[in-house]
Amino acid sequence: MGYVIATANMKGGVGKTTLTVNLATCLAKNHGKRVLVLDLDSQISATLSLMSPLDFAKRRKQRLTFRYLIDEVVNPEPNAKLTIQEIIQSQVCNLPGLDLLPGDIDLYDEFVVSEMLHQQAVALGEQDFETIWNRFERVLINNILKSVRQDYDFILLDCAPGYNLLTRSALAGSDFYILPAKPEPLSVVGIQLLERRIAQLKDSHGNETKIDIKMLGIVFSMSNANLLTGRYYKQVMHRVVEDFGVEKICKTQIPVDVNVAKAVDSFMPVVLNAPQSAGSKAFFQLTQELLQKL
Ligand SMILES: Nc1ncnc2c1ncn2[C@@H]1O[C@H](COP(=O)(O)OP(=O)(O)OP(=O)(O)O)[C@@H](O)[C@H]1O
Ligand SMILES: [Mg+2]
Repeated sequence: MGYVIATANMKGGVGKTTLTVNLATCLAKNHGKRVLVLDLDSQISATLSLMSPLDFAKRRKQRLTFRYLIDEVVNPEPNAKLTIQEIIQSQVCNLPGLDLLPGDIDLYDEFVVSEMLHQQAVALGEQDFETIWNRFERVLINNILKSVRQDYDFILLDCAPGYNLLTRSALAGSDFYILPAKPEPLSVVGIQLLERRIAQLKDSHGNETKIDIKMLGIVFSMSNANLLTGRYYKQVMHRVVEDFGVEKICKTQIPVDVNVAKAVDSFMPVVLNAPQSAGSKAFFQLTQELLQKL
């Protein structure tokens, strides 16, 4: 069985999605791995980094997005017939080994989820609603992925910023998480907040549904050369090393590179679109480093 790895940080705009799609592409292209990217963010950035908006719109019309699979859990239709295999788009960017489970701008309705879980609690005579909710979170993404886990060496989960139901479920169902961060104080706060939440998540699940996720590494991205030599940057790094230990910080940093941001316009990650760019070279190196860590 392969690895399930979540990319998360409470803070937004720190490079989570860019890292997810480029890592996935490098694993498939340079290392011959079978990789699935699952877009768990209703901003659908991972989806639109790997397919055109037109292709996405067509799929959405046919309900071929992750939303369908959540609906099937929360509000099953008796005549539903799509399987996860039919929803997964294989060989995105024409790259063998790289598959995408497209996200949706509308993933789930918190109220409908609460109502369903309340009904379950009543039916089971369970007084403690939190237990029911935790159990649901624990298995949601795990169950959805169950039938395809053996088909992939890596399943990468691109989480939304913050800490919503899908992020919690992704972390509960992952073997590892990667924490992309910008070398700046607020991004570091995002790391600390996520760490605290993960500790709480582990605590809230007993041995029966134990959560066994580990941090694979912190990746600093969008580091620019001027910043890297400054005192300010050193202070931030010092704090992260103190909090997490130097071994948790990936040696490879992703530089600011306009090619990385521009690649989205070509509906493919920078490692395919401009493989000679500084950003791409960093992603190639980071992929090797993460594989070694694993
Ligand atoms: N190395 C880089 N150089 C230049 N621009 C970058 C780089 N990495 C990411 N970007 C750009 O920065 C923005 C934020 O990156 P990204 O979407 O990956 O962050 P995120 O953490 O996933 O954001 P969100 O929290 O909104 O999901 C995007 O416009 C992206 O193209
Ligand atoms: Mg993102």
